[in-house]
Formats: sequence, C-alpha cells, structure tokens
Amino acid sequence: MKNVVLGVTGGIAAYKSAEIVSRLKKLGVHVDVIMTAAAQQFVTPLTFQSLSGSKVVTDMFDTAFVPEIEHISLAKKADILLVAPATANFVGKLANGIADDMLSTVAMACRGQIVIAPAMNTAMYENTVFQENLERLRQRGVRVIEPISGLLACNDVGRGKMQEPKEIVEEVRFLLNRTDELKGKRILVSAGATMESIDPVRFITNRSTGKMGYAVAAEAARRGAEVILVSGRSHEEIPFGLSAFVRVESAEEMYRAIIGYAESSDIIIKAAAVADYTPSSFSDRKLKKSDDDLKIELKRTKDILFELGSRKRADQILVGFAAETNNVLENAASKIKRKNLDLIVANDVTAAGAGFGAKTNIVTLISANGGSEELPMMSKAEVAERIFDKIAELMNS
Ligand code: CTP
Repeated sequence: MKNVVLGVTGGIAAYKSAEIVSRLKKLGVHVDVIMTAAAQQFVTPLTFQSLSGSKVVTDMFDTAFVPEIEHISLAKKADILLVAPATANFVGKLANGIADDMLSTVAMACRGQIVIAPAMNTAMYENTVFQENLERLRQRGVRVIEPISGLLACNDVGRGKMQEPKEIVEEVRFLLNRTDELKGKRILVSAGATMESIDPVRFITNRSTGKMGYAVAAEAARRGAEVILVSGRSHEEIPFGLSAFVRVESAEEMYRAIIGYAESSDIIIKAAAVADYTPSSFSDRKLKKSDDDLKIELKRTKDILFELGSRKRADQILVGFAAETNNVLENAASKIKRKNLDLIVANDVTAAGAGFGAKTNIVTLISANGGSEELPMMSKAEVAERIFDKIAELMNS
C-alpha cells in the first residue's frame, strides 16, 4: 500500500483538502494528515480523522506517544509528502530550512518526493521573496502544483487559488505509480482520428476515439519516458505527465507533426487512425445542395507509418497498429514487412469488446522476428502495459 502524508497549512483552501483525502482513500492510498495550528483555525482535525481513518497529527509534543506518528516515522513512511494548501509562510520555512512545528519537521526529515500546492492572495503569490523561495524548492526537486486564477476568498480576482483536488490527486497518483524504466527515452505517440475537410462545415473522419493511443501515451509517461502525443480528434482527457501535446486535424497535419519529431524519438507508436484518402479539393465556401447527387473525389494521403519505416534508424523502435475486419493476422504480418516495423498491434475492430470506442481491447502482438502473442480481452490501459513489456523485450534482445 502506498503512503501519502498530507500536510494542511492555514489557508481557506484547507477545507478543500478534505476532498483530497477522500479521493486518495478511494485510490487505496493510506493517508496520514498533519495539521498546523493555523490550519486548525479553518477546519477541525476531526474532519480529516473521519476521512483518513487515522489520528490526525497536530502537536509535536503529544504526550500520548505513538511511534507510528512520531515525526521521523512519518517522514520515513511517506512515499509522498503533499502539502496542500501550502501557505507563503510554510513555503518560506521549507525553502529556508526552518523546522519549528510537526509539519516543517517532517518535511525536513523527508527523503521521499515532496509536492506542494500553494494557495494565497495574488499579491502574496507574486511577491518576489515568495517566488524566489518557490524556485529554490523546484531546484531541489520539490514538485510545485501551481495555483490557478479565480475569485479569491479576499474578493480579489487573480492567481492564487489552490488547484482543484481532482487535479492534485491526479498528479499525486501519477507520481506514486511512476517508474524510471523508460527514463531518458523519447517516445512519440499518435492517437485519435484525422479529419479531412470538405468545406468549412463538413469533414470526413472515422470511428477512432483515441482511447487506445491515449492509454499508450499515459503508460509511457508512467514509465518515466519523455512523451510527445500527437492527437487527431479525440475527447479523451489529456494524460498526465506528457512533455508535449500536439493537436492536429488532417492526415497531412499529422504527417508534418510526426515527421518533425520522428528523428529525435527512440520509440514511435502509431495508434492514430489516419485517413487513407482526403477530398481532392477543399471548397472555402459551404457547398450548397442541389437536386443532383454529389460526388466527392478523394485522393491518397501520405502513409505516415510507411514513411517512418523507410527512414527508421537501427536503434529506433517502430510500432504500428492494424485495425482489421478480416484476415487479421495475415494482414498485420504483411504490414510489418511493408512498413518496416518492429511490432504491430493487431485487432479485429468488429469483435465484441475490441476496437473503436470500447474501453477494452483484444489484440495480438506480432513482432518482426515472427513471434506472436494473442492477448485476452483486457482494458486499453492493460493493453498499453503489455505493449511496453513487449517493447522492453525487443530493446533487450
Ligand atoms: N497509418 C499511417 N498513415 C496512413 C494510414 C495509416 O501512418 N495514411 C498507420 C496507422 O497509424 C496504423 C497503421 O498505419 O498504425 C495501420 O493502419 P490501417 O488503416 O490498419 O492500415 P493501412 O496500412 O492503412 O492498410 P489497409 O488500409 O490496407 O488496411
């Protein structure tokens, strides 16, 4: 079980931290809460105790000594020490090595990852001393979850509002699960459907939702890689921890974006459903209907994967997807050769529990050396894990 120690300092956003505890608990994380004296002016320890299921630590010199919650044990136990909200005062203490209460003492002794979510009035936030302190902490590896803009408790409108609990917990979850297996590797992923415009209001697209490609990008980031996600149409949430996210529409735009990043990428995974054809001409005015039938002439787009295969470096790994409706394995195997791939993820998009829009997928991983592994139905996140397990095998072979 993962352990998060949540430090709550004295700001009005303290009440929102109750939701942080609740969300972390739902993820199966054990949470210990430390409240500063000022925090207890805003919310009572009982709120956090009820949500965390553990005694809230408020006092450095509690006479009812419990070894589990003594400052050194708490510091040792914390996979992550999250301080939310973090006041200017707390940030100042952390940046300057002051340990004068339970929270600042635990922070001083903590060897795990420290994450802070500052919240304060805009003028305080913009104060040079505060910004210098923040920068100092970043330099030392403290993760800063920047506050957002909005209406503040003091009625000012500006930056200083604590980031939403949901976002904070997303970041913590990402950090808790992260490994450094792919650290130093640059991974380029394409996802989603391309859109080929006919006129200003109409376009041709396909049934891809981007779920599979986004799951691949998320898994790459979880394994510590530097991830660039080039995405066509998709309503999926952008995964956490990407280095870059590039939104494109047409196959031509996707081609340019992908080729631009390809040279410097170690692994390229093309999960996007790219249109093979695009309208031969684009009407910049909306096409008016008439009584006649309409014929739209289509021309071929560039095959991005083929282009990547033809310029592939010996140390680069190229992974394609094959969305098939029949002869899945034969078609996929011939794509490996034709497009010079290392691995292809083949799926029958007509099978129940697989393909476009489904949360699950049923795929076969076929590698250039002829090996093939048929996977049972599993979530797209699990499929992404298996793809990277296979890539790891290929990198070590
Ligand atoms: N792909 C691509 N550029 C295109 C078309 C496809 O890069 N213009 C990539 C997709 O991202 C996917 C792989 O090619 O990784 C396979 O796509 P798919 O549509 O299944 O196959 P095609 O190669 O287009 O062949 P076919 O249409 O004959 O099945």
